[in-house]
Amino acid sequence: MRNKLNIGLFGFGCVGNGLFDVLNKSNLLDATISKIVVKSPNKTRSIGSEHFSFDKNEILHNEEINVVVELIDDAKAAFEIVSEALSRKKHVVTANKKMLAENLDTLLALAKENKVSLLYEASVGGSIPIIRNLEEYYNNDSLSGVLGIVNGTTNYILTQTNYGKDYETALAEATALGFAESDPTLDVDAYDSKYKLLILIKHAFGVTLSPEQIFNYGIRNIKPQDVRYASEKGYRLKLFSRGEKVENKLVGFVAPHFITEDNVAYNVNNEFNSVTVEAMFSDKQLFQGKGAGAYPTASAVLSDVSALQFDYSYEYKKSNNTENINFTNDINLKIYAGASNLAALDIFQWIEKEEIFQGKDYAYVTGIVNLKNISGVDFNKEHDLFFAVLPE
Ligand code: HSE
Repeated sequence: MRNKLNIGLFGFGCVGNGLFDVLNKSNLLDATISKIVVKSPNKTRSIGSEHFSFDKNEILHNEEINVVVELIDDAKAAFEIVSEALSRKKHVVTANKKMLAENLDTLLALAKENKVSLLYEASVGGSIPIIRNLEEYYNNDSLSGVLGIVNGTTNYILTQTNYGKDYETALAEATALGFAESDPTLDVDAYDSKYKLLILIKHAFGVTLSPEQIFNYGIRNIKPQDVRYASEKGYRLKLFSRGEKVENKLVGFVAPHFITEDNVAYNVNNEFNSVTVEAMFSDKQLFQGKGAGAYPTASAVLSDVSALQFDYSYEYKKSNNTENINFTNDINLKIYAGASNLAALDIFQWIEKEEIFQGKDYAYVTGIVNLKNISGVDFNKEHDLFFAVLPE
């Protein structure tokens, strides 16, 4: 039996508007948006003002509404809305990765206590159905890795700068296309990728990490010399989120990677994302699709809403078996690091240096570092230098 879904929607930005359209275009769902609550009364919107309210209680206190779809970008306000919706026994669908990453276990406990579902496929990888696959399909196989490109904005910037565009223009385009966060620092400094990795790790390995545990380094400090180094070697630059488990050791971090043509992510361009799942029996499998933008993200929200027709909820079975898994940053990485002078690169506490170059106003080193030794540094703020992980 299908449940009739009466939706209260919070937010009518890029994805909210997209959801409104896709819901109207898809006639397969028995679901209606009864009310939309937005913050600003003064914005021009694509549909009539009769659809909107500015009072969150018009959804939260409405007994007829059984599903709350939360698509606002303020993580704190979203947490209040989602917590209250769950407490009032409404199912929740959200795309808010920051809110989820900062409050995952609290929200899961609330959903469980109130016997309602909290679904968030759209929070990672846009249109890619990765969370439900990790939950259901990879329920039996033992996973050893979940890694890839999970931020459309930075992948768009890296692709476009590779074609010769400058960084600022590419970022402005990613914003205009609806890919970037309202605060694009979250994209370019890899916070968004880290929140998404935290969610992937929860569903792949059952472990809840806190955002502070995961090292994140983005792409804002890349210089023309670094791009030249990469192109001379035939590398492309991608921002990778990596969650890897070897026996009972779990590693998770986000950093730029120089990759070669044989890497499956080499041709994943623009706002496309890709996630590779590594498992004991099925080996490596690649998921790829549009990771940002109104309709791709709305399609994942729609899929969650659709799943609620049949009372779907995540079961978190892997979380029952995590006591022996230890999170660590103790991993050796082969990296390239460039800066204006060699002394600036001492920050890396090199275990081994392979190549050393010193020019007039540019120097670089390649070699081995341990993530544990550098993870206390916020490299996003070290504007003079840039580093990327090299192919194995
Ligand atoms: N800013 C995000 C990105 C939106 O660029 O991937 C989708 O989560």
